[in-house]
Amino acid sequence: MTPRSFLLSAELADYVRASSEPPDEVAAALIAETAEMAARGEAPPTLQIAPEQGALMQLLTTAVGARRAIEIGTFTGFSALCIARGLPAGGSLLCLDNDAGWTAVAQRYWARAGVADRVELRLGDALETLRGLPAEPTFDLAFVDADKTGYAGYVEELHPRMTANGIVLLDNTLRSGRVLDPRDESDRALVELNAALAADPRWETALMPLSDGLTLLRKR
Ligand SMILES: C[S@@+](CC[C@H](N)C(=O)[O-])C[C@H]1O[C@@H](n2cnc3c(N)ncnc32)[C@H](O)[C@@H]1O
Repeated sequence: MTPRSFLLSAELADYVRASSEPPDEVAAALIAETAEMAARGEAPPTLQIAPEQGALMQLLTTAVGARRAIEIGTFTGFSALCIARGLPAGGSLLCLDNDAGWTAVAQRYWARAGVADRVELRLGDALETLRGLPAEPTFDLAFVDADKTGYAGYVEELHPRMTANGIVLLDNTLRSGRVLDPRDESDRALVELNAALAADPRWETALMPLSDGLTLLRKR
């Protein structure tokens, strides 16, 4: 089961989902296979973004005219599928993850959806991979959804690599509400990062209460 926002009742969350662009047959199959993996204990149950967030991310990718995108934290590939589908012909998405098993599922579904030619997967530690990329404006859109303690480092490394007005999306920035009562290292990392970004003149920042909190950064 893909996660519903902790901010909404189950009924309202269902309503939000039903009022957004529905996943097509390929995306629905990917969501179902990921849920089956979770039921078999092969993956945690809540890693995948919600379908309504996927719909927003595809829409945003197209609306900002992104041609080159990067994702940090790919898992079984649903969020990447949404970004890839929002890109124009000739666009590209670079996916960073360190799990070969989960991303093998992703690659199967990208092929099935006909977007495999625009997605490149690089396996390894995301921060190291990111540091190895040219430090020049490359990406129009970035999505960060990997280890929460790594977010601050990812945002720093992304900054020089984003084009002017480039958009960075950060997932889980409300930590199921625990930003008000942080309980672990990941919660505290997001509390610190949220405060730092709100005061950082290099970014225009908006934290949206969608799903588990989705922060939008625009490079000034
Ligand atoms: C929350 S899941 C991503 C979910 C995905 N965006 C989706 O919607 O299906 C986080 C992913 O980050 C990856 N990850 C965590 N720490 C990492 C690191 N240091 N380097 C690379 N990948 C990492 C995990 O393997 C996992 O696949």
